[in-house]
Amino acid sequence: METKGWFIEGRFGLFVHFGLYSGAARHEWVQTTEKITDAQYLPYLESFDPDLFDATAIAAAAKAAGMTYAVLTAKHHEGFCLWDSALTDFTARKASGRDLVAEFVSALREAGLKVGLYYSLIDWHHPDFTIDWNHPRRDDADAVLQNATREMERYREYLHGQVRELLTGYGRIDYLFFDFTYPETKQGWVGKSSEDWASAELLRLCRELQPTIIVNDRLGIPGDFVTPEQYQPTEPLVVDGNPVVWEACQTTNGSWGYDRDNDKHKSADLLIRMLCDSVSMGGNMLLNIGPNGRGQIDRRDSSVLDEIGEWMALHGRAIVGAGHAQFDPPREGVYTRRGDKLYLHLFSWPMGFVHLPGLAGTAAYARFLHDGSWLQMSEIDPDQEALVTRPAGQADGTLTLTLPIRKPDVAVPVIELSLR
Ligand code: GLC
Repeated sequence: METKGWFIEGRFGLFVHFGLYSGAARHEWVQTTEKITDAQYLPYLESFDPDLFDATAIAAAAKAAGMTYAVLTAKHHEGFCLWDSALTDFTARKASGRDLVAEFVSALREAGLKVGLYYSLIDWHHPDFTIDWNHPRRDDADAVLQNATREMERYREYLHGQVRELLTGYGRIDYLFFDFTYPETKQGWVGKSSEDWASAELLRLCRELQPTIIVNDRLGIPGDFVTPEQYQPTEPLVVDGNPVVWEACQTTNGSWGYDRDNDKHKSADLLIRMLCDSVSMGGNMLLNIGPNGRGQIDRRDSSVLDEIGEWMALHGRAIVGAGHAQFDPPREGVYTRRGDKLYLHLFSWPMGFVHLPGLAGTAAYARFLHDGSWLQMSEIDPDQEALVTRPAGQADGTLTLTLPIRKPDVAVPVIELSLR
């Protein structure tokens, strides 16, 4: 529990997907969706030029958005390494003279953010990584033959060696996101299981090299937190009756890597509601950006981060350090709780009042968080409440707050209740 403290408190992080696919600009899976060969992928390597990749600006954007940690794809499925790996030439160092992991890690530390790395277990570039149903070469006529010379044992050594590099060469790494394990057989191909990665051994290695690190759950064995992807849980997550630490990873537009022509961008309002919702269910949100081919944050992403930051500047205390509250929220929103403060995040704006079942007598004071303005609380006698219409009115034990008719001019209004 100890080492997870910062993570549970932190609640909101930035995911950064960057690689050669950012230059291809049509989703980070492009190599396999289009079954691109190594030779056809080569131009993306040859033209790799991250001249606008500015780790300090990324860290500043995360910080301004109210985030407390950030996670960079050190290597994605394409196999390209953003750090100066001694185990391959397929690196940002060789291609551009820069170690982007080193830049990222030091910028985060400078900004006071916790340091996270993403590492793909999958590797479509490595000659020993066997072809399976996710692999770009799966439909080659000689795919089975190609597998005869591929040796997962050698790939495993490479994988462990790379993780060792990342966890020894860059100081303290707080967080590691492995991606991912898929043991199912499909289209005649066997997937990859935790045996392929030697997951238990790999996890031991992580803990040995970085005793305080937290590792996700995608090694095919339990980790320190679970990772619902592009999905919002609707209840606190529980395994065998015990609450688990979780983090929902979310995109701004459905793609992780830069996807130029994709316009399915979520509004800041929606992303803020997803964040509130995650924390109300006891979870974190890791929100992704996909910097473009030159490494710059796409304007659509930076403007949504700005809007979220504007909201977080006023409401951050209802998110960071907050968590699930044991009260049933009203139909208009969700609760988060931080010590003796209960926060009601209003997703829809009610007319004149909001009724909080079961809260009568529990709160000493109520106010809006954005401007600190006092809100009237009352426990209305159900029979007096609805004036001329029966049946109507609220159940006994309901606390009613009087609200202005117009929704305050913030994405999600939050009411702070000081509990007795
Ligand atoms: C996935 C995808 C991937 C993305 C990741 C983020 O499993 O393969 O492209 O990096 O999830 O969680």
